[in-house]
Amino acid sequence: MKKPSVYVTRMIPAACLDALRAHCEVDVNPDDRALTPDELMQHVRGRDAIISLLTDRIDGAVLDAAGPQCRIVANYAVGFNNFDLAAATERNVILTNTPGVLDDATATLTFTLLLATARRITESERFVRQGKWEGWAPMAFVGLDVDRQTLGIAGLGRIGKNVARKAAAFDMKIIYSDVRRDPDFEAAVNATYVDKATLLAESDFLTLHVPLLPETKHYIGAAELRQMKKTAVLINASRGPVVDEAALVQALRDKTIWGAGLDVFENEPALAPGLAELDNVVIVPHIASATTETRLKMGEIAVRNILNVLQGGQPDTCVNPDVLRQPVGAGA
Ligand code: DGY
Repeated sequence: MKKPSVYVTRMIPAACLDALRAHCEVDVNPDDRALTPDELMQHVRGRDAIISLLTDRIDGAVLDAAGPQCRIVANYAVGFNNFDLAAATERNVILTNTPGVLDDATATLTFTLLLATARRITESERFVRQGKWEGWAPMAFVGLDVDRQTLGIAGLGRIGKNVARKAAAFDMKIIYSDVRRDPDFEAAVNATYVDKATLLAESDFLTLHVPLLPETKHYIGAAELRQMKKTAVLINASRGPVVDEAALVQALRDKTIWGAGLDVFENEPALAPGLAELDNVVIVPHIASATTETRLKMGEIAVRNILNVLQGGQPDTCVNPDVLRQPVGAGA
């Protein structure tokens, strides 16, 4: 019997591809770069399943190019703002993501950015490497305390909660804002639910963990930055467009806030003009989930979802569950 055909839009861990190859014909983008929209449409043609990345826009045009036999697109990411959910549901295509397995890695990177920004790690490291260090100096690279400061968390999902738990090691006071309250979690980590205005005004460190939705685009803009403390640090390891990056550059230049630590950017891989020249920002290239174990687990989920669906079962992590309620063949 002919094996189903799967396209993987960029190299993922070999063990995941091997698991897929045991049951499917698998082609992988051989180039270590994201595909252009035209290349994506060309390569998905006739496939039964696709493993996509957050850099691949999966919309009606791509799904039509794939064809009506395409049953599932499995994102190699927990975020899925690159999916047009309605277009996929209309075409009876299952969409999945990789929740749960990257909480630790992402929360750790969040804390890494927080600590690196507070203690001016990348700025002072550059200074040493450039041969400028002339010895210990009382006023050099003086940063911020982290212990016992107020950590504001915007978005108390799995990753926000993980960050809150890690903050306990620094005895931080935790405040959070979300569309939902979680009294059990509040009790567990001694967190306080606040409105957005209070979150902005009281956070010493404000970390963003909201999904990118029309309502959260520019959740932090010029007005919000003005409401923050002058000594505050903003951390973003969610999605770039959650922050108005041009407004952030201005705020960092004007010292409206003290600093920022960013894993994600509004127009990746481009940076807002002026951002890279600032010393009071730590910038890393969207690496929050980049640990060997995590990337393997993300691939395992994507592969399991694809195999389940192609073998007539259900995926573990569907993000458009309406499609599972449709009769087989509907919309195709
Ligand atoms: C995600 O999974 O959404 C991250 O941004 C990349 O791992």
